[in-house]
Formats: sequence, structure tokens, C-alpha cells
Amino acid sequence: MLKGRCSMKTITVIIGDGISLEVSNAAMEVIKATGVNIGFDIKRAGPEILKNTGSLVEEGLYESLERNKVALKGPISTPIGYGFSSINVELRKKYNLYANIRPVKTMGGFSKYQDVDLVIFRENTEDLYAGVEKKISDDEMHSIKIITRGASERIAQAAFEYAVSSKRRKVSVVTKANIMKLTDGLFLEVARETSKKFKEIEFEEILVDNMCMQLVIDPSRYDIILTENLYGDILSDLCAGLVGGLGLLASANIGSDMAIFEAVHGTAPDIAGRNIANPTALILSAAILLDHIGCQSEGNSIRVAVEKTLANHENLTRDLMGNKGTNEFTEIVISNLK
Ligand code: NAI
Repeated sequence: MLKGRCSMKTITVIIGDGISLEVSNAAMEVIKATGVNIGFDIKRAGPEILKNTGSLVEEGLYESLERNKVALKGPISTPIGYGFSSINVELRKKYNLYANIRPVKTMGGFSKYQDVDLVIFRENTEDLYAGVEKKISDDEMHSIKIITRGASERIAQAAFEYAVSSKRRKVSVVTKANIMKLTDGLFLEVARETSKKFKEIEFEEILVDNMCMQLVIDPSRYDIILTENLYGDILSDLCAGLVGGLGLLASANIGSDMAIFEAVHGTAPDIAGRNIANPTALILSAAILLDHIGCQSEGNSIRVAVEKTLANHENLTRDLMGNKGTNEFTEIVISNLK
């Protein structure tokens, strides 16, 4: 993912609603504390902006993204079952951010499973998320699942290349190709073809329902999971549960020209504005962002500081059965940077 040297850079920061502001502030504080020379071009998006301006994104947001090419993004809510379409999905489609990469690792003593260290490669632009839905009648709705050879090839290639560059041993492709023989069949066929170019990487095929069970039994068996959009979304939350919850999982949305880094979790409206959200996921997303712009040393310092912070149960936030607030947790991470 390395794109350049670690030099002065402006990144776009997209702040949504719910806990978005709290965790985004935490991540920006940690980035600043590494001493890296980064400017933040902050833009708002989501329902609050919609209410005030009639538009879902603040003026200049797209221009900022197109200028800076790299963004840190807080979560943005999407109404469930009605209303506007997801801005998150819109950004991934608009900028062709085809690879959603989600590392899952055991950290701290609170994880239910030790030795989890896997990375999910989720296709990010099509599948049932293509948004092709049709009302047939009041009693019948259709949603079209779209899988193309081109998008399947890009994500499969990205997963195998990552396996080689990060010295991983195995890629497991997850589908439901026994039932969806055409769509999932195509994704699987492309994964098989791609695997032939990477003989040093073990390749296995597994159906999504079985994968859910296998992950709960022994997640340490898995290394890289290559999958479609919907299965990747669901498996990510399942994997978050294996290592301590949604407050911990970072992600990167990578395209050929732009990259957006965000937490796996959503806006957590149930805990918003109370200084109790766990900012780890967005802080770790910021670390991957720094890797991406050539600042690996600073990215690594953040990961080490977060691991050190999580290793002490006195530092934990409420979701991990601790009592530290978002701000206190962030201050401890910053003090562990030094
Ligand atoms: P959610 O991830 O916001 O919350 C699920 C549960 O996890 C809640 O109990 C919440 O309190 C907890 N949680 C999440 N993040 C946490 C954190 N950092 N610290 C402590 N606890 C945390 O998922 P939900 O409720 O399904 O979605 C809420 C909204 O977020 C929806 O509108 C959804 O569309 C949106 N969303 C946005 C995403 C994005 O911007 N990429 C991703 C996922 C959901």
C-alpha cells in the first residue's frame, strides 16, 4: 500500500454523526502526537448537514477528496429501511474504492480468542450493495446481485498480492456458490484462476455459512479471507466480536487513485456525545493511513502504543468492561507513543 515518502501532506477528514466527532478528534490528536507533518481539511457529512444545508455532504467535500486523494472518515449513519442511500457506499462506488481491507487481531487480555491475526479482503463496489432494487408491487420487492469478472479479479489480485507482500500463508475464498451458481460461481472461478498465479500461497474454498461456524470454533486457522461485499460486511462484525468488539476494528477502502480509512463500526447513536466511545478502531485506521502515505514508522508507533494501552485493563473503555472515557483513553495512547 506504500505510496510515497513521509512528507508534508494534507488529508481530508470526513466527520459524520453519532460518535463520529468524538472518535475523529481522538484519531487526529494521535496523528498529531506522532509528530508527522499532516494538515487536516475537515468536512462534515450526514443527516445533520442534510438538515442544515439540504445536501448530505458539506460543500467542497468531493473537491477536497479529489485534491488530497487520502481521507480519514468517521462513521456516517444511514436510515434503515427508508430515506437517503448510504454515503459510505456512495463514496466507495463514486471513487471506485474496490478493496475494503479489514485487519482483525487479538489485542489485550480481554479477547475471547488468542492468536487471531487475519485480514478480510472484501469486494467493495458491487454485489447486493449495487443498490439495484425494484418494487414489483406492495407485496414484492427485488434486489439484484451484481458480480462482474473485472471487480472480482481486482479484489482477488489485491488479496493475493497482499498475501505475498505481508508474508501470509493462505487465502480462503468465501462464497455461497453452491446456491448462487452464476454470481458467486463467477467470484469463485476468478479466485481459483488468480490463485494459480500465486503457487506459494495456499488456497482454500469455503461456504459462508460454514465459515461463520469455523471462525467461531477456531479463528486462528484463517489468514486472509477473500469475499464479496455482503459476506465481507457480515464476517467483519463477526470477527470484531471474536477479538473484543466493534470498537477495535480498523479498515481501509483502497482504489487505484484514492484511499479512505475508517472504522468498521457505525455511528453508535446509543452512546453518542457521552465520551464513552472506544476510539481504537479509528486510531488504528489512522495508523494504516500513515502506512499508506509512506509514514510506516509513525503508523507502527501508533499500533505499538494502542497495544500497550489495551494490555492494561485499567485503561479500557466501557465496551471492554473498563471505565475510561474516550478522551482519557486517547491521552493514554498518546502518552504511550513517547
Ligand atoms: P454500530 O456499529 O454503530 O453499533 C453497534 C453496537 O456497537 C452499538 O451497541 C454501539 O454502541 C457499539 N459500538 C460501535 N462502535 C463503538 C465504539 N467505537 N465504542 C464502543 N461501542 C461501540 O452499528 P449500528 O447500530 O448497526 O449502526 C448505527 C448507524 O451507523 C447506522 O445508521 C448505520 O448505517 C451506520 N453505519 C455506518 C458505517 C460507516 O460509516 N462506515 C458502518 C456501519 C454502520
